[in-house]
Amino acid sequence: MMDQPVALVTGGATGIGAACVRALSAEGFRVGIHYRKSVDKAQALLAEIKDGFLIQADLSNIEQIDAMIGKLKETAGRVNVLVNNAGQSVNADILSMKVEQFDEQRALTRGVWYLTKRILRQFMVRSSAGRIINISSVVGHTGNAGQIPYTMEKAALDAFTRSLAQEMAGRNILVNSVAPGFVETDMTEVLPADVKEKIMAGITLGRIGKPEEIAEVVAFLAKKGSYINGSVIHVNGGLYGG
Ligand SMILES: NC(=O)c1ccc[n+]([C@@H]2O[C@H](COP(=O)([O-])OP(=O)(O)OC[C@H]3O[C@@H](n4cnc5c(N)ncnc54)[C@H](OP(=O)(O)O)[C@@H]3O)[C@@H](O)[C@H]2O)c1
Repeated sequence: MMDQPVALVTGGATGIGAACVRALSAEGFRVGIHYRKSVDKAQALLAEIKDGFLIQADLSNIEQIDAMIGKLKETAGRVNVLVNNAGQSVNADILSMKVEQFDEQRALTRGVWYLTKRILRQFMVRSSAGRIINISSVVGHTGNAGQIPYTMEKAALDAFTRSLAQEMAGRNILVNSVAPGFVETDMTEVLPADVKEKIMAGITLGRIGKPEEIAEVVAFLAKKGSYINGSVIHVNGGLYGG
């Protein structure tokens, strides 16, 4: 366990994050499962994998991210791969959306930026190595009615990927986005039937994606993909080509 590389997956207890935890564990990583509220699911997943650990924080809260870094130092001592997967979508059109809902969405993006900054400083820059994988979304490229703040934040995340890859030039730290299309998780389950039908009509493969189909690309970027940097990899069954 001493030399085992460590991967941290935010929002790792559910959906795409949980699939990433399993895929990275299968690739030999010691995986940190970060969660906010889903403690039962996080514990169940921990029992499934070898040598993992749990870490709790609300990423919209800066103090909780600071505490998280302290715990990572104690528990893991290193972070070789960071998967910024945690996300939430605030759904309402511009006419009914409240400022507080907009701020809630923005606070999580700020948290992604701050967690990444702290992990870079504490672990990756010191060891001159690292992989950062940001889970953005197809809707950051196509737009989506009823999700303006979400689409804005996902587009921002891809801009973050490109800029950070440039800032990390020469440090052996690779930064990429994986932009899923429509994937079967709690997040999409709540969408109204007519919205689902409309999205499905645009998917050339004719079906919704599985979390594992996103996770296998994340695992590839974590372990291989040595000449991919500052890129957005689209995984959407042909919904959008990029
Ligand atoms: N499903 C799709 O079709 C789809 C498409 C494109 C992109 N994505 C992106 O994929 C990622 C994973 O989503 P999912 O579909 O797997 O949905 P999900 O199961 O709802 O997962 C969202 C995760 O984010 C965590 N989270 C939310 N707000 C947080 C906060 N403030 N602080 C810390 N953690 C927070 C949640 O943790 P707790 O449950 O512990 O609170 C949860 O584990 C998201 O970034 C999402 O935007 C999903």
